[in-house]
Amino acid sequence: MAGDEKRVKVKIDHVEKIYEGRQGKMIALNGVDLDIMENEFICVVGPSGCGKSTLLNIIAGLLEPTSGSVYVDGKKVEGTGTERGVVFQQYALFPWLTVLKNVMFGLKLKGMNDAEAKELAMKYIKMVELEDFVDAYPKELSGGMKQRVAIARAYAVQPEVLLMDEPFGALDAQTRTQLQSELIKTWQEEKKTCFFITHDVEEAIILATKVIIMSARPGRIKKIVDINLPYPRTQEMKMELPFLDYKSYIWGEVYKEYLEIRK
Ligand SMILES: Nc1ncnc2c1ncn2[C@@H]1O[C@H](COP(=O)(O)OP(=O)(O)OP(=O)(O)O)[C@@H](O)[C@H]1O
Ligand SMILES: [Mg+2]
Repeated sequence: MAGDEKRVKVKIDHVEKIYEGRQGKMIALNGVDLDIMENEFICVVGPSGCGKSTLLNIIAGLLEPTSGSVYVDGKKVEGTGTERGVVFQQYALFPWLTVLKNVMFGLKLKGMNDAEAKELAMKYIKMVELEDFVDAYPKELSGGMKQRVAIARAYAVQPEVLLMDEPFGALDAQTRTQLQSELIKTWQEEKKTCFFITHDVEEAIILATKVIIMSARPGRIKKIVDINLPYPRTQEMKMELPFLDYKSYIWGEVYKEYLEIRK
């Protein structure tokens, strides 16, 4: 059926990134091509330093590629945009704003009035279970709590494309699995396109429709693995066979790249 055909939401077209550092030129990304379809959930895994964050920052429009381009809905990315929301590896909150005001910030930018922005912000603050801390300032929160505020803030603006750089890395295992489940739910309900970086192969498989394995420096896409697990995805699946097969395969491929670096 024609109506069911997926559209390319984000096109990564031969993106190359060279950093000019003190030690000379460093090729961080070496010709990355990828079509991310609408409502696809991409998880990216690969050894440290392979260029995952570089690629995410280029999609976000925070970094310019040395050559090649990124397109969102066919339009070339030339800076940040409200249709793309980012959660960074390190929580990035405004220290002078309370939890509530941090989450409301993007909503006000979108033109919402105080009452609307507060209602929506509270929905996402509850999702990350921080309703008792709405008036706290970032310095009064633990690292994991700060990261949960950053997640609430990104979800609240309901961007079409959610770019997440190891967003759950600093969280305890319990919060992490809870937020994984919330993210799957949000993604299913709101039909977002997600690009999610993680070091955790299990996390990649439980979340993704596709896992992208990147090669060691210079970063390139090495393998694309379709994850054909049914929905709703549950944490119990992590103990079952199809999941375990994906895990041993992907883990093996990533490990080969770690060995490349150590050669
Ligand atoms: N601003 C910069 N200037 C020079 N080199 C950089 C810069 N940012 C990143 N690099 C280099 O580019 C390479 C890719 O970095 P990047 O942060 O994209 O890797 P990563 O895959 O996200 O790693 P990690 O898993 O550790 O977060 C690394 O070798 C890094 O040293
Ligand atoms: Mg990174």
